[in-house]
Amino acid sequence: MKVLILEDAAAAVARAAGLVSATVISRPEIVLGLATGGTMLPLYADLRRRHAEGSLSFAGVTTFNLDEYVGLAPAHPGSYHTYMREALFDHVDIDPARTHLPRGDAADPRAEAQRYEQAITDRGGIDLQLLGIGRNGHIGFNEPTSSLGSRTRIKTLTIETREANRRYFTEGEEVPRYALSMGIGTIMEARACLLLATGSTKAEACARMIEGAIGAACPATALQMHPRVTAVLDREAAAALELKDYYDHVHPEGGDTVFD
Ligand code: F6R
Repeated sequence: MKVLILEDAAAAVARAAGLVSATVISRPEIVLGLATGGTMLPLYADLRRRHAEGSLSFAGVTTFNLDEYVGLAPAHPGSYHTYMREALFDHVDIDPARTHLPRGDAADPRAEAQRYEQAITDRGGIDLQLLGIGRNGHIGFNEPTSSLGSRTRIKTLTIETREANRRYFTEGEEVPRYALSMGIGTIMEARACLLLATGSTKAEACARMIEGAIGAACPATALQMHPRVTAVLDREAAAALELKDYYDHVHPEGGDTVFD
C-alpha cells in the first residue's frame, strides 16, 4: 500500500483530487468507482472546480457508486443518488446514463444487488475505486465481520454508522437500517483503489487498515492484499501509524518517488 501523508486535510484533499484528475485526463473513458460521505465532499468540490476551469472533463467517464440505502428512492434527500447529483453529477459534463448507483427502492433488493454486480462486470470492471473509511474500519458499507470475499448485497448498518450518518436525515426521521453495498470482493477487483481519510477520528481505523492484522473485524485491512492501493491521509488521520517516519521518508510531503 502506498501511504501518502499530507500536512492537513486541505492538502490531502488536493492531493487525492490531483490523482483522480490526472487519471481521468490520461484515460477519458475510465470507469470510476465512487464513494460518498463527508470526507469526499471537498474532493468532489475540487473536481467541480477543475471542471469549471476547463481542465477536467467527465464526458467519457462511467461511474459506479459503492452503496445506497435500502428503501430510499433516488429523489429522497438523504439518498446517495441525491448526494452524488448535488456533489458532482449536476455540476459536470458527465452523461447521467453512465452514472450508476444501486436502486435503494428496488422491489427485490437481493435481485438488485445481483443486477448491480453484473452491470459492473458487463462494463468491464472498475479502473479506479475511490474509498473513504469508517471509524470502525468499514469500506463501502462493509461493516466489521463482512466476508472479505463478499459481493454486492444487503448489509445491516451498525448503530455507530447510522448515528454517524444521522446528519443527512431530518429530525425524527429514521436513518435506514440496511444498505446495498458492493462487497469487499467487488472492491478488491477494482484495478486500483484510492482511499482518502482525514481527521483524528479516523486515526485508529487507518492504523489498523495499514498496519494491523488482516481480518474481517476491520474490513479495510483486506486492502493490504490489493496490489495497487494509494492511501492519502492528513497528519491527524496518520497519527496512530507506527511506521509514519518510513512513509514520510518514502513519500516526502506525500509526493511520489522516482519509481512511481
Ligand atoms: C459511503 C462509504 C463509506 C464512507 C465512510 C466514511 O459511500 O463508502 O464507507 O466512506 O463511512 O464516511 P465519512 O467520510 O462521512 O466519515
